[in-house]
Amino acid sequence: MKSVPYIFVCSVFLLSAKTPLFVSNIPQAHRVTVEKVTDSYGLSEGPQWDHRTQKLFFVDIYNQYIRRLDPATGVVTSAYVDHGPVSVVVTVSGTTDKLVAGSGKDLILVSWDGEQNEKNVTFKVLTSIEPSSSDTRTNDGKVDLSGRFWLGTMANELNGRTGDWGNAPKLGSLYRINETLQSEKEITPVTISNGLAWNIKDDTFYYIDSPTYQVAAYDYNSNEGTMSNKRIVFDLRKTNMTGIPDGMTIDKSGNLWIAVNGESHVILVNPKTQDLLKMVEIPAVSVTSVAFGGPLLDILYVTTSGYNLTAEERKKTPDAGSVFAVKNLGICGVPGNSFKCNSCD
Ligand code: BGC
Ligand code: CA
Repeated sequence: MKSVPYIFVCSVFLLSAKTPLFVSNIPQAHRVTVEKVTDSYGLSEGPQWDHRTQKLFFVDIYNQYIRRLDPATGVVTSAYVDHGPVSVVVTVSGTTDKLVAGSGKDLILVSWDGEQNEKNVTFKVLTSIEPSSSDTRTNDGKVDLSGRFWLGTMANELNGRTGDWGNAPKLGSLYRINETLQSEKEITPVTISNGLAWNIKDDTFYYIDSPTYQVAAYDYNSNEGTMSNKRIVFDLRKTNMTGIPDGMTIDKSGNLWIAVNGESHVILVNPKTQDLLKMVEIPAVSVTSVAFGGPLLDILYVTTSGYNLTAEERKKTPDAGSVFAVKNLGICGVPGNSFKCNSCD
């Protein structure tokens, strides 16, 4: 059975444009604001809005933290995971004190209600995603409307710095993990498995393998959790933009919000027309991922990377690694889902 979609109301004001529209052109009444809402951390990634608790989860990959922002108070709590890089975290259906995360090559179950900092959070390994012999780790992931967890992998990188992209090609895959924790490779090979999004009808899946510079679309069979008919719906190299597409989310109109890693902006793309609709500047280098949140799902939370910066770079971009909240975009997102897992209690 499908989970019941979260009901929400949202203003439908949307600037439509065929040509790129930059936020600075937006009339005053709809002036977009970008606000830093956390301290600066390392490689902040994987924002996931939990509409049940109205909190934002995200990870700090190489510092091995799961973090939770309470936007009502501005407080961030953190849980250290003693198990290698923490690539992504998702909520679990039926519980608010358990989370499932990708860590190293594994899928882990973390016991944390997010209320307090945990210096060494309790967790157990649910299953290994990649063979122990492979030089890979888990990366971005997301839960589909049916509650399956889609988790991607990538080759280990030398220093986690965007722009270098020095990791070995085509060692990663995108896995579908079902409620009995069986994982199936659904897309392979990929180099850096990143952004994932499904349209509201749940019949199209959008996907980013970052070094391709492209956003791909697939027909999605939601009963089976399978995809077919790959086509390219956006290619950064066909614009005059630099940077690499990273995390991604979809809005209620079916447009895609894409973090451009190696650059300081998020782009809005219409996958049907392939038009670049908008660009939102974020005051930090290396934007990593995006998720809609807030009571109306109309705030775009944006993670950035402050990992491995030289002292000089850090001076130039003091807020790198922070999470930012973008408001007044005049659009709202699609609710996220919790992982349905039989053995996650
Ligand atoms: C990946 C991260 C990676 C970073 C820097 C991101 O796209 O998702 O896991 O460490 O790029 O290469
Ligand atoms: Ca990413």
